[in-house]
Amino acid sequence: MSALNTFFYDRFMSGLEKACLHDWRTELLAEVTGEVLEIGAGTGANLAYYPSGNIRLLLSEPDAAMRNQLEKKAATSQRNDVCISNAKAEQLSFDDNRFDYVIASLVCCSVTNIDRSLAEIYRVLKPGGRYLFIEHVAAKTDSKARRWQEWLTPLWRKFAGNCHLNRETEKAMLRAGFEFVKIQRDAMPDSVPAIVRSSIHGIAVKPLN
Ligand SMILES: C[S@@+](CC[C@H](N)C(=O)[O-])C[C@H]1O[C@@H](n2cnc3c(N)ncnc32)[C@H](O)[C@@H]1O
Repeated sequence: MSALNTFFYDRFMSGLEKACLHDWRTELLAEVTGEVLEIGAGTGANLAYYPSGNIRLLLSEPDAAMRNQLEKKAATSQRNDVCISNAKAEQLSFDDNRFDYVIASLVCCSVTNIDRSLAEIYRVLKPGGRYLFIEHVAAKTDSKARRWQEWLTPLWRKFAGNCHLNRETEKAMLRAGFEFVKIQRDAMPDSVPAIVRSSIHGIAVKPLN
């Protein structure tokens, strides 16, 4: 992400936050407890939504400009349970089976290798641990929106921090071994541009065995 993109990121996202992300973050993060890892934490959009109490929060963000904003937001959040790391999703420098929760919002679209990233998330979760996700994803095959996504992605990636409009993230999560506890599809309102409207959000679990 360029320093310019980072500077404007929160302002750029504010419409989407109002349209749906605020409600989804509120609903999803309310249950979080214990050892928690957030990957691609960006400028810290989720920080305000984590409950207080029995929680140890490790926020990872590999991009230096985004991490700088994240550190500032964490410092003013009045939480004393936050640590920040620069780990990439593809190579999480944490022990197997460590976390009760892993969180990723709008990250699988941007990682370099989605299968490797999901394998790492799976590895660091405890058996029974939960992966909470919010992602914009590929529209239905053969839809007009999907054709636009395929056409625009090579250019879009260059200006939007490697964001792919056409990732089939749900299939990748199943390939990684996750089971869905709850998944809501295509819930972004019509006010959101069609190329990013297709979305999934919900809870996946690393099975107990
Ligand atoms: C669209 S932003 C989302 C930020 C934040 N999670 C949110 O909900 O607003 C995508 C984030 O993924 C991060 N990212 C990109 N590639 C990554 C990777 N390989 N591993 C972890 N994070 C990555 C970017 O640096 C950026 O902070």
